[in-house]
Formats: sequence, structure tokens, C-alpha cells
Amino acid sequence: LPVDPFDLVIFGGTGDLALRKLLPGLLRRYAMGQFGDDSRIIGVAREQQSSEAYREKVGEALLRAIGDNHELKDKLPAFLQRLGYHALDANKDDGWEAFAEEIKSHGDRIRVFYLSTSPSLFVNLCSRLKAHDLNGGKSRVVIEKPIGHDSASAAVINDAVGSAFAESQTFRIDHYLGKETVQNLLALRFGNILFEPLWNSDHIDHVQITVAETVGLEKRAAYYDTSGALRDMVQNHLLQLLCMVAMEPPAALQADAVRDEKLKVLRSLRPITEDEVSQLTVRGQYRAGASSGNAVPGYLDELGRNDSRTETFVALKAEVDNWRWAGVPFYLRTGKRLPERVSEIVIAFRQIPHSIFEHDAGPVMGNKLVLRLQPDEGVKLWIMIKEPGPGGLRLQHVPLDMSFAEAFGVHQPEAYERLLMDVVRGNPTLFMRRDEVEAAWKWIDPILNAWEKLREMPKTYTAGSWGPSAAVALVERDGRTWHEDTV
Ligand code: BG6
Repeated sequence: LPVDPFDLVIFGGTGDLALRKLLPGLLRRYAMGQFGDDSRIIGVAREQQSSEAYREKVGEALLRAIGDNHELKDKLPAFLQRLGYHALDANKDDGWEAFAEEIKSHGDRIRVFYLSTSPSLFVNLCSRLKAHDLNGGKSRVVIEKPIGHDSASAAVINDAVGSAFAESQTFRIDHYLGKETVQNLLALRFGNILFEPLWNSDHIDHVQITVAETVGLEKRAAYYDTSGALRDMVQNHLLQLLCMVAMEPPAALQADAVRDEKLKVLRSLRPITEDEVSQLTVRGQYRAGASSGNAVPGYLDELGRNDSRTETFVALKAEVDNWRWAGVPFYLRTGKRLPERVSEIVIAFRQIPHSIFEHDAGPVMGNKLVLRLQPDEGVKLWIMIKEPGPGGLRLQHVPLDMSFAEAFGVHQPEAYERLLMDVVRGNPTLFMRRDEVEAAWKWIDPILNAWEKLREMPKTYTAGSWGPSAAVALVERDGRTWHEDTV
């Protein structure tokens, strides 16, 4: 359904995120007829250029992004007409007055300010929006990670944004929550009677969350080298996924009900102490190897320095100390330059209590529920069956397989697309509340501090491998293995 007319202002409107994700997502929603009449998108950046020049640049980027999708191509010219541009500097007054006037000229409508800029500009951007009275009731602000590099710096950012916008106006985006399969986890857990009775330590042996990427530094050295995989991926995306798996059923699919439950999970994470950090976490950094059949340089070569201790891979064992999850490890791993791009959540159920089968029937393997976030979104439930045909009763472990693309044949919406429209509609369910971000940092901080004290180089792994062998050992030590999707 179309939403009420809105203005969406993208600070950082010429940046990579805007051109590769935000604007293509908006185009798709526009093409679906979801824009109320006269809705506008306004790009803002420092460089001086006309709206016409901006439209041209965006048009080119969008053509690249949509490939040969004719429907989108047809809608592109009309979409570009919705686009305007303002040159503004967060640190200077010039142009702000005119910008504010133009925004206000369309009356009291929904205004979204997407701060797709370096967090170092958030303070000034928010105070200028406030000074120009653009932070009123129907205004919303969207901020992206990194929301700080530890608890203290996250609080500074949250305070800065909070001094201009109320919490109910603040949308902290974690694009993993916009992925279809993540929302499907809610549907699966709470729309079926099958899983929830088994969703606890009596029946679940452990959980694995893997977010593997094939890409390397991608020209993001300045940011990534000060961040590393724990801050870049675990503090936000992987912990959010963990929360969706581990949270109690919320009373309703309503923003605070869901976020209250996620917060409880974050607060129940068992702290990893300095003594345990070498045992429970693995840091890795890729060296030269191959990615998709091509030779690729190592991290330090890409960086052009040989003294960086930044991790490009992390694996860790987390535990949620509450009644439901006591004793159930959550193994998390993420890294760059791994063999394939795959994000999945594996719920590994316990073994049956007693086997009635003969030894030569083969092993009885535990059931697994695998939620594939990307690529090939879908759900697989691994079960034991009798191997078909004659020759006695032999067992086989097979997946009941539901690929969303095969089942529905529809385009899977991009994460940002859904989330952007949620902001416009004012639905914060899939956004992080301030206390969630801070609770996540509170669990991450001691790990970072312990690593800092150790001052160890990360373990190296060859680009194109599954990370350092210590990551395998982390799981095998407990008599388990990382899930491999082999039939
Ligand atoms: C971002 C990280 O948040 O997520 C990147 O900063 C990472 O380093 C990206 O590549 C992964 O997102 P996706 O949607 O491609 O899995």
C-alpha cells in the first residue's frame, strides 16, 4: 500500500551505500507503487552540483544496479524526477537555511533523515537539524553502524542523536534484520507449534551462526582496519541473529515487545573473561590465497602495511545464561575471504535417547534445522529416513528442503528496501533500540580489552579457506563439527 507522502533525505547521498543499496531499494519500492503522491528523495553531500547532475549520476548507478530488469528501467525516469540534491557541510552553516526552507515548504509531512555518513558527523548533523527545527514529531533519523567502537563511544553517539531526536524517532539500522530469512525465523518459531516445544536445552544440542564472505577489504581499509570482524559483524549482525534465535516469544509482534526480549538475551550472555578469551575466541587474518578461482593478496598486502593486528575472521563460543539455554553453546563465526558467501543459522538438535536400529543401519544423526539467509534463501530440516529400496533397513540423513526461490519464484527483497519503508511507516520493530546496542557492546568490550592486553597477531589463514584451524578446534574440542551442507 502507498504510504503517506514523505521526504527522505540521505546525508551521504553520493556515497557507496546510497548508490548501491538505498537508492536501488527505493526504486524497487517506488516501482511497486508504495510512494505516496509527491514523495521526495533528497541527496545531500558536500560537493556542489545541481539536482540535474545528481539525477544523472544516480541514474547511471541505478542502471548498473538493476541490470536488465525492464520493469524497473521503465520506472526509472519517473523515479529520478522525485530526486533532488542539496550541497551541505555538516560543519558549516552555508546552505542550511535554504535547505530547511525547502523541506518545510511541503508542510508537516513525514521526514526521514538518513545519516549515511561517518559517525563523526552525527553530532553536528543532528544539532543543525535541531537548530533548523527539522526534528519535530513526524521526523525520523536513521543511523548506521558503526555505532561506536566500544560502549563509551556508542553512548556518545546515542547522546548526540538523542539530544535532537527522541528514542521513538531514532531508527538504528542493522540490515541483517531486514533479510527475509531473519523475519522468517519469527514466522517459523512463532507461526508453528512444531518447533517451540523443542526450542530449549532439553532438545537443542547447540546453535551455529555463520556469516561467511568471499570479499576482502573492498577499499574500506580506513574503516575496516580500525574495526575488525568482531566490531564490524559480531557486535551487530551476529548478535542480532543470536537474539532472534534465543529470545523468548514476545507477547506480540510489536516493536518494544520484540526488543525487550532481545535485550534480555543480550543481558544473559555470559561474559567472556580475560582468562577464557584464548579458549573461547579465535582471531584470524587472511594471507594470500585464492577467491573464486583468482589469486588474491593477503590482508596486509591489501592494506599496504605489515603491522596490523586487525582480525578479518572471528569464531567464538557464546553461552546464554538463562533457564532455556543453560549449557547450549552458540558457536559464531564470520570472516572475509572465506571459500563461499554463505550466511546461515544451524539449530542442531540432540541425539535420540536410544537407538532401536542395528549397527549396520548406519549412524543416527541429530536433526538439524538450517536457515539459509543468503544466497539461496531457504530452510532445510535434516531428518533421518530409511534409505529407499531393498537391502534391509539402512538409515540416511536427508534435508526436507525448502528453497524460497523455487517455492515462490519471486524476487527476494533486499534487506534495505524493507527497512527503509519501515522507517517511513514508522515501524521500529526491526531496528535496534539504544539499550540493545549498549548491551551488545557491554558483552563485546571485555573481549576487545582482553585481546588488546594479549597483543597477539591474529592466526593466519589462507584466503579461500574456512579460517584458522583453531576455529575448527573450537567446535571439535566439544565433540561437534561446523555444519556442512552435503547431501
Ligand atoms: C556490513 C559490514 O555491515 O555487512 C561489511 O560492514 C560486510 O563488512 C557486510 O561486508 C555484509 O553484508 P551482506 O548483506 O552482504 O551480508
